[in-house]
Amino acid sequence: MAASVVHEINNPLAGILNYVRLMIKILKRGVFEQEQAQKFQGYLSLVERETDRCSKIVSNLLAFSRKSKMESGEIVINDLLEKCIMLSQHKLTLQNIKIRTDLGADIPMVWGGFNQIQQCIINLIFNAIDAMPEGGVLTIVSSHDPKLNVVEIRVEDNGCGISKEDLPNIFDPFFTTKIEGKGLGLGLSTVFGIIDRHKGTIAAYSESGKGTVFTMKIPVKR
Ligand SMILES: Nc1ncnc2c1ncn2[C@@H]1O[C@H](COP(=O)(O)OP(=O)(O)O)[C@@H](O)[C@H]1O
Ligand SMILES: [Mg+2]
Repeated sequence: MAASVVHEINNPLAGILNYVRLMIKILKRGVFEQEQAQKFQGYLSLVERETDRCSKIVSNLLAFSRKSKMESGEIVINDLLEKCIMLSQHKLTLQNIKIRTDLGADIPMVWGGFNQIQQCIINLIFNAIDAMPEGGVLTIVSSHDPKLNVVEIRVEDNGCGISKEDLPNIFDPFFTTKIEGKGLGLGLSTVFGIIDRHKGTIAAYSESGKGTVFTMKIPVKR
């Protein structure tokens, strides 16, 4: 991930530096006309936008690394899911999204970072919300697979879906199909990193125009 982060921060920084240098050069000439003031406004908006982008990337990474000294403990997955639903309720209602849950009984506990797993589920829910701008149904399912001895969590939407071309890239850092300012493309790469650390797996199934299913499997606490 490091290389792409450097790249993503370096590009806007290079742009900022260019515009700042240009403005210094113009100011050094001494004469400053109205026309120039307008140009400066344009340059400064660019600088503002790019600085904002850098700062969002950095705070995202900080949030991730701070939580990386994870406090581990026993997690009751259904409690965690209920909390995530509660935290998203407002956004779901606003966007006319119905929520269906099917939380399995007698699911054994998993071992890990409650906040980290919560962040994963929230990321998946927020992506699902983004995928259903006209409303829809969000389905959250939990179950226990005794054969693999994993707890399975499914987050399902009937939104826009993911194209075959995009599907292999969605877990890459900075991959996004969202407009600038809306998506940084760090959500799913963060989820992948966290689930990997829990020795779990995550997979996505999707059909363009029909919807998407994310399936997470986390080992049961031994
Ligand atoms: N539930 C979903 N439905 C449709 N597309 C999705 C869904 N979840 C993720 N994606 C696709 O994967 C991309 C990467 O997601 P993510 O890493 O969370 O970044 P971001 O949300 O900032 O774009 C999204 O831009 C979108 O194209
Ligand atoms: Mg996202």
